[in-house]
Amino acid sequence: MTEAKDIIIRAENVKKLYRLGDEEVWALKGISLEVCRGEFISIMGPSGSGKSTFFNQIGALDIPTEGRVFFEGQSIFDSTESEQAWIRCNKIGYIFQTFNLINVMSALQNVMLPIIFQGTSKDEATKRASDILERVGLGERMHHKPFELSGGQQQRCAIARALANTPDVILADEPTGNLDTKTGNEIIELLRSLNKEKGVTVICSTHDHKMLASSDRVCWICDGRIDKIASGEQFRIEEMDKDTLGR
Ligand SMILES: Nc1ncnc2c1ncn2[C@@H]1O[C@H](COP(=O)(O)OP(=O)(O)OP(=O)(O)O)[C@@H](O)[C@H]1O
Ligand SMILES: [Mg+2]
Repeated sequence: MTEAKDIIIRAENVKKLYRLGDEEVWALKGISLEVCRGEFISIMGPSGSGKSTFFNQIGALDIPTEGRVFFEGQSIFDSTESEQAWIRCNKIGYIFQTFNLINVMSALQNVMLPIIFQGTSKDEATKRASDILERVGLGERMHHKPFELSGGQQQRCAIARALANTPDVILADEPTGNLDTKTGNEIIELLRSLNKEKGVTVICSTHDHKMLASSDRVCWICDGRIDKIASGEQFRIEEMDKDTLGR
């Protein structure tokens, strides 16, 4: 059967069980979701509802206890370790809430790392990493280490690293969670332009209404299940009302 829509990631009844000693936690209780290529989708849900766990499954960082995740039609569960590593390295860019940069390396070296892992020469990696850092507005600061950068600059660096290998999908787990409103808005603009101009699929978990307003679809997760999925339209209207009322 041919699929009419260009589905890049498909989660099929994904369940995840964590065991802590005698205690069992079903963090995901059967999530099915199709994400189309070029889509901007936000995941919302209370703390502990399973957002990060779900990201780990669809990002090929973990394997579900039950169910399957398909990346471009290929089952991650049924792929070899090296196929999974290839997807992680070449297809997906990860942005974490706490940046996860390597502190002893400069911004430039942090961004070069995944490019080098891909097997690219050091000269080429330096050029590509510098270009990306320029693009995210960090050209002037690329030789600084993370602790010498502001929170927003560190998140820009993390985004640059996520973009290093021109991924098809960016998975961003609360990318503005640790940022002030102004810096957060800049990061949202950056993700939105990558999505609109470069066609990168963006999947992010967020509580930020500006991010939700940028989304094609918003998916609510509650207690390991999808509660509802709606268009981002209602948040766009809300944001417009705020602008009109000057709030
Ligand atoms: N490695 C783990 N071992 C055991 N339990 C875990 C593990 N990771 C998460 N959990 C549990 O699974 C559930 C879902 O956690 P998860 O981190 O996915 O939530 P979340 O929606 O990302 O929350 P937050 O908004 O606080 O980041 C929680 O009950 C959590 O305690
Ligand atoms: Mg989380």
